[in-house]
Amino acid sequence: MAFPASRPRRLRTTPAMRRLVSQTSLEPRHLVLPMFVAEGVSSPVPITSMPGVVQHTRDSLRKAAAEAVTAGVGGIMLFGVPEDHRKDAVGSSGVDPAGILNRAIADVVAEVGGETVVMGDLCLDEFTDHGHCGVLDARGRVDNDATLAQYAAMAVAQAEAGVHLVGPSGMMDGQVAAIRAALDAEGWPDVAILAYAAKYASAFYGPFREAVSSSLEGDRRTYQQDPGNGREALREAALDLAEGADLVLVKPALGYLDVVREVAAIADVPVGAYNVSGEYSMVEAAAAAGYLDREAVVLEALTSIRRAGADFLLTYWAAEASRWLRD
Ligand code: PBG
Repeated sequence: MAFPASRPRRLRTTPAMRRLVSQTSLEPRHLVLPMFVAEGVSSPVPITSMPGVVQHTRDSLRKAAAEAVTAGVGGIMLFGVPEDHRKDAVGSSGVDPAGILNRAIADVVAEVGGETVVMGDLCLDEFTDHGHCGVLDARGRVDNDATLAQYAAMAVAQAEAGVHLVGPSGMMDGQVAAIRAALDAEGWPDVAILAYAAKYASAFYGPFREAVSSSLEGDRRTYQQDPGNGREALREAALDLAEGADLVLVKPALGYLDVVREVAAIADVPVGAYNVSGEYSMVEAAAAAGYLDREAVVLEALTSIRRAGADFLLTYWAAEASRWLRD
């Protein structure tokens, strides 16, 4: 009988050997924690479809942010949830320095700004009464160029609140250039832009809509990408890079690992991926039912996103996974 010419199993013989040849690392610094802060609530509000995730009060946000930083996360991405009566057609409270998101940015920067990267979601959907990511024209369509002016103002408001990085997630054409120009003109050349380069119109955002008490009816298919389109992601990424993106993001992550891989191959900046709400909730539901080993599955999923080529990732497990990785 012939012996196998090659024996890959040799490199799997002991834990020490496996550690030596391990190709992909997962460290707390790779993990960014998305956090929600709601206006007008006196205690944290659980998000039913995302067990373990809450809409924070301003106070509980500060505390939880400090805990995440102690756990070692690489950054914190903030989403604001205004009271319903503050929502209007153009998302004014996203631009208002007294709006919930800008207040929360200032709070978190004061609490942990010296130790972590504080990021602000830059989009109008939480602040508009119609729930779209932009302003609407007379016929009810999302008006790209009118939206850019609001994004520019929102970027400056977040910069004034102390944000280190803005994350434009609305998929308007030209948003990175418009935001860069506004930040530079207003004296914020050091505020970085994490461009949601390839953001798909995904049903995996379902639980997030509850998380931000979304007012949206309908869908976002006139601005977010068709899940079947891969090439278009490269075009979007190239445009964002040409417009001055400091980092680029692919979203969602797990169903789009090929896109992460392809974007990483062309990008000359760090590439991130957003492990979104539906990806989180699926694992939580399966683990709660006893179908999966929660910790093992979470770490495997996050490692797979890194393996596909993501330098960093946004995940609701960021703080908890960081603690697992450290212990
Ligand atoms: C919109 C936004 C969405 C998410 C982040 N920013 C939802 C959407 O585009 O409909 C989804 C995040 C998640 O599902 O975890 N600005």
